[in-house]
Amino acid sequence: MRLVLVGPPGAGKGTQAEFIAAHLAVPKISTGDIFRSNVSQGTPLGVEAKRYMDAGELVPDEVTINMVRDRLAEPDASEGFLLDGFPRTTPQAAALDKLLADLGTALDVVLELVVDDDEVIRRLSGRRTCRGCGKIWHVEFDATTREGICDRCGAELFQRDDDKPETIATRLREYAEKTAPLVDYYGAQGKLVGIDATGPVEDVTVRAIDALRSYGG
Ligand code: AP5
Repeated sequence: MRLVLVGPPGAGKGTQAEFIAAHLAVPKISTGDIFRSNVSQGTPLGVEAKRYMDAGELVPDEVTINMVRDRLAEPDASEGFLLDGFPRTTPQAAALDKLLADLGTALDVVLELVVDDDEVIRRLSGRRTCRGCGKIWHVEFDATTREGICDRCGAELFQRDDDKPETIATRLREYAEKTAPLVDYYGAQGKLVGIDATGPVEDVTVRAIDALRSYGG
């Protein structure tokens, strides 16, 4: 299955991507994770991306599209993938359609996680991520047993630089302006399915997997 997850910052894309990708046995490809890994390694791509990420703005389309093109060319993505955080603009969506068409294939479905802004702000301000295994936690909704330490691997947790209130506000504006139009874009292709992404994580996963069943997932 070739699947895209779309939804505002903090909707739970990263959280759900892990479960859904495992369920579908496809690689999870998160552009945010790839950018963060480049930032922490200090690569030229990371240096360029960091300027935008710290401001809560989108990295330019050309940079992002080239990065995804390279990632999708890797052998593990040949039979299917779950894209988390890409596409994020209409030009990115058009580039993805073209890239897949050139490979003789197409997206199967776009799953929209629907959450309101107040919930997004609660989720992002309490998010913590593991430095070791990358697992996403929340200080209130999904807390670790020992504060600041990952239950899964024992490494330290950190708060993302872009989860500060002023940056969250910019990210929400960027989403409304540049990413929300993708709902119409994929709706017109008959590929969009939206689910309520509020409530416990496990309930959202069940809703997601149910929704994907009619698309062959
Ligand atoms: P990216 O990393 O993609 O950030 P995002 O889209 O803003 O999404 P988040 O990772 O913040 O949230 P999420 O939806 O994954 O939620 P999560 O599961 O963590 O991008 C970061 C930056 O990179 C961008 O701002 C941009 O600069 C750049 N970038 C990336 N892709 C790009 C692109 N295509 N084009 C251009 N630039 C790009 O959950 C959030 C919190 O909520 C967690 O603490 C979690 O534990 C909790 N939670 C999850 N589900 C629930 C639930 N059901 N109930 C309660 N709490 C929950």
